[in-house]
Amino acid sequence: MNKFNSGVPFWFITTVFEKFYQMKQVSEDFLPMASFLKDVHSTSISNISGKNADYIPELSGADPNQFGIALTSSDGYVHEIGDSLNIFTIQSISKAFVYSLALELVGEQAVNEIIGVEPSGEAFNSIKFQDDNRPFNPMINAGAIACTALIYSLEGTNAFNRIQEIMGRFAGRNLHLDQKVFESENATGDRNRAIAWLLKNNKIMKTDVEKSLLTYFKQCSLQVSARDLSIMGATLACNGFNPVTKKRVISINNAIKTMSIMASAGMYDYSGEWLYRVGLPAKSGVGGGIIAALPSQFGLGSFSPPLDQQGNSVRGIEVCKIVSSYYNLHILETEGNIEDVISASYNLQNVRSSTERQEHDIKILLKYGKNAYVLELTGSLNFMAIDYIIRQVNKHTAKEFIILSMRKVSRFSSGAEKMLEAFIQNLSNINNKIIFSDIKFNSEIKSNILNNFKSIESISPLYFKETNEAIRWVEDKLLTKYASTKKPSDRVSLKKQLLLKGLSPIELEFLKTQLISRKYEVDATIISKGDAADGIYFLKSGQVDISVKKNRSLTTINAGACFGEFSLVSPHTKRSANVIAVTDCFCEYLPIKTIETVRLSHSNIIEILLKNVALLLLKRLQNSNDKISALLED
Ligand code: DON
Repeated sequence: MNKFNSGVPFWFITTVFEKFYQMKQVSEDFLPMASFLKDVHSTSISNISGKNADYIPELSGADPNQFGIALTSSDGYVHEIGDSLNIFTIQSISKAFVYSLALELVGEQAVNEIIGVEPSGEAFNSIKFQDDNRPFNPMINAGAIACTALIYSLEGTNAFNRIQEIMGRFAGRNLHLDQKVFESENATGDRNRAIAWLLKNNKIMKTDVEKSLLTYFKQCSLQVSARDLSIMGATLACNGFNPVTKKRVISINNAIKTMSIMASAGMYDYSGEWLYRVGLPAKSGVGGGIIAALPSQFGLGSFSPPLDQQGNSVRGIEVCKIVSSYYNLHILETEGNIEDVISASYNLQNVRSSTERQEHDIKILLKYGKNAYVLELTGSLNFMAIDYIIRQVNKHTAKEFIILSMRKVSRFSSGAEKMLEAFIQNLSNINNKIIFSDIKFNSEIKSNILNNFKSIESISPLYFKETNEAIRWVEDKLLTKYASTKKPSDRVSLKKQLLLKGLSPIELEFLKTQLISRKYEVDATIISKGDAADGIYFLKSGQVDISVKKNRSLTTINAGACFGEFSLVSPHTKRSANVIAVTDCFCEYLPIKTIETVRLSHSNIIEILLKNVALLLLKRLQNSNDKISALLED
């Protein structure tokens, strides 16, 4: 099927697209969106069909050539073109926002009692009601007047202020009344008066008819621009949060309910066609405005006064059709594949933490590392993505440890949060130990996860700030289980030092005479970044952490390994990291100035030490390469 088959003539779409691709000059701040909107605007401006509304006399005088488009992204950036700042009256578009206010004030149930949620298939000013006497929906005049009357019954003479205020919060600025349009509609709005009296007769309206009507006419006469509409649309698209002012305007649920009715009834008797062809929640007004919203992406505002038979802006409809069909923006279009949420998965056979380990420990990890698995998760996780991840976790029941690394997860949907919570609550029924790491974003689930971890003592610790720490914890567990690893307090003899491997007993004995014993208590700072690189530390017992930034461990060093060894290679530089004692430590320290003495009497020792430094570096590089290739694997 042709993806551009939207009901817009083919020649029209091809012209727009050709122009779009024929952009010759790419300026430094080239934005495809701005360029696209410019082309849509310059093509649609030639469509001069339609006619200004004239049943409200003041509207008939508007300049029909005015044409503006604006699109506000969900991060609050406004793209705009043409007369996007020209002011016109919002008319029926106000109905969506007044409906959302009613939902906020009295709740869904009370509003549903007097106004339905069914598309009517009728014109906006239809006098038909449902069998139960309720207006079909809040987007047609009958439902909108009932909605305004409901607010009037609650707020009295303050009702209009309340409406003006909330619409201003949607737009991100104060909106003003067009007195002339208001008076013009008030003077001629007999059909709406008839509808209002019927509502009163049907006991749907239980307040002053005339005052409610005046409030309704005023709300329709609030002045907006296409830019304002796009921001109002973006606020709906962001589920009630204005991305420009960064303030919440209405609740998530009420934004969803409002957009639902825009999707099913926002374009009156053109609503079915609209949902089928454009697929965006939208609302039109006889002032020439159209608003559309694509949840989580953008709000669109268009202004062009000439209307079609249904009372919708001709150019506005065209703009929405092109934008939606070209970029495939129908709300039912799928987004991504849930399998993409796992960006990498690997076991700990070849990939290891940055902790330096003794050779026999490395052998154990090579053998038993397959018992631990890391799943690197990415992107925005929704309900099904969590289900998929949990199914992948369950596939690995043979594994003892599963680390779920959240480093690249940008958010959880609320459905995902619920499902993940249920999973966490039942962790004790799961065979393997689940470990979460590195949740970067702030959300309720993050604090819930942390709280849950605290409450499930028996299986904690289950959360680590960094994936490297989680991997290290799992390695330690594997080593405790599968090897008789030494406790940190056990001393490792110098001959087992990786850096001293290959020294003859005589050379080792000589070196020992040059060493200075040093003890450090837990938390002691052994080296501070910037200190002179004046010697090498051989760690005989205990554990130290190497970090550049506070509390961000780069590497952990265990007994049997050394640190500060680069002073051997470049003795006159400064230390590049901090070294802190994680436990009580015992070190043998070889001062750099002694190295010169050693070189003179036993030059072979220095040669061996340098070779061992190179081998250590090689191992670290191999470890990094293994990690990179595990991340790149499909
Ligand atoms: O009540 C009316 O007739 C006008 N104030 C609003 C109608 C309207 O905008 C219909 N939408 N396309």
